[in-house]
Amino acid sequence: MSKILLTGGTGYIGSHTAVELINAGFEVVIVDNLSNSSADVLNGIERITGVKPEFVKADCADMESMVRLFNRYPDICSVIHFAALKAVGESVEKPLQYYQNNITSLLNLLFLLNERCAASNFVFSSSCTVYGQPDNLPVTELSPYKPASSPYGNTKKIAEDILRDSVHASKSLKVVALRYFNPIGAHPSAEIGELPQGKPDNLVPFITQTAAGVRDKLMIFGNDYNTPDGTAIRDYFHVVDLAKAHVIALQRMIEGKSKQNFEVFNVGAGKGITVLEIVETFKRVTGTKLNYEFIGRREGDIEKVWADTSLANNELGWNPENSLGEALLSAWRWEKKIRNIL
Ligand code: NAD
Ligand code: WQD
Repeated sequence: MSKILLTGGTGYIGSHTAVELINAGFEVVIVDNLSNSSADVLNGIERITGVKPEFVKADCADMESMVRLFNRYPDICSVIHFAALKAVGESVEKPLQYYQNNITSLLNLLFLLNERCAASNFVFSSSCTVYGQPDNLPVTELSPYKPASSPYGNTKKIAEDILRDSVHASKSLKVVALRYFNPIGAHPSAEIGELPQGKPDNLVPFITQTAAGVRDKLMIFGNDYNTPDGTAIRDYFHVVDLAKAHVIALQRMIEGKSKQNFEVFNVGAGKGITVLEIVETFKRVTGTKLNYEFIGRREGDIEKVWADTSLANNELGWNPENSLGEALLSAWRWEKKIRNIL
């Protein structure tokens, strides 16, 4: 079985996907520049699976490095492309860095696959951010793009356009773009998980750090939304379920089951949950207290979004298996592990 290249594979979602790919019998090669992760993650993957993935430290946005990588692994024709900068706020301050990193990485990979592979399979990490604030909910794959609320979100829209056009021009490329909603949690072993650098942007790592005493208080951005409890609604789901969706998407292309050469799937729980519901569920399943305070809305936030996942359910046969409570409990187990809390 040929090797699968995971770009950004020591990152949060990539590392969980590496575990599921190894469990499914694939050999994986991880390339990562460690700009937002640590090579120690490889040891965590090994502790879970018994296999330490091959690893190359390299910048996917550097073509010379990518040529060397593909020369070293000439049989790689399947790629899962996680590598990207993903901090929404930072992308507003440093748009050129985000466009350069996220778009050039993609272009380099597509050029090399086109040049070297008679048939290639490409799974892309897209995001529900391409929908902006949908007019109708739950949001389906046919819902229109909305203007991106950040350069980061725009890189995902641009990337999907590049992939769609590349597939149209190519006889060899197949793509599945997975539009992630809000993945949360950690592997049940607590050997790998989310490792935000510095102050977390995302809700769940901020909650677990607050519960662990690393942060004084969770600030809830806005309680004046038009929602049942006034706080914003998102579609949270377990990162292990997301990882499994990548294995299924890859197998679909390898086994020739794609209906079109460019396919898009929403991946989420298919359920809208408010911030306060996340807080209350976390407190219930972990038995911890949580200090929080309502403050003003965060710029760029949308009010509510959750997925219609029927296409992934019916076409991919993918269904999330973990509950919200298990996802939050796994996040807490991971936080306690990295903070040495019993
Ligand atoms: P992450 O930051 O944990 O992982 C990304 C990895 O890519 C990191 O290990 C980083 O070091 C690496 N990387 C970045 N630029 C690189 C480059 N030029 N060359 C090589 N490696 C590079 O992020 P994540 O949460 O695992 O996200 C993975 C992908 O999923 C990203 O494309 C992100 O935009 C997308 N996504 C994430 C979420 C989410 O909520 N986490 C939601 C939607 C989409
Ligand atoms: C969830 C909810 C916040 C932190 C972002 C990116 C998206 C994707 C996932 C990359 C919102 C509220 C948060 C806090 C809070 N990333 N919140 N206090 O904004 O849905 O999506 O991450 O692809 O592209 O936009 O996720 O976890 O940041 O926020 O009240 O300290 O929690 O306002 O309503 P979001 P999030």
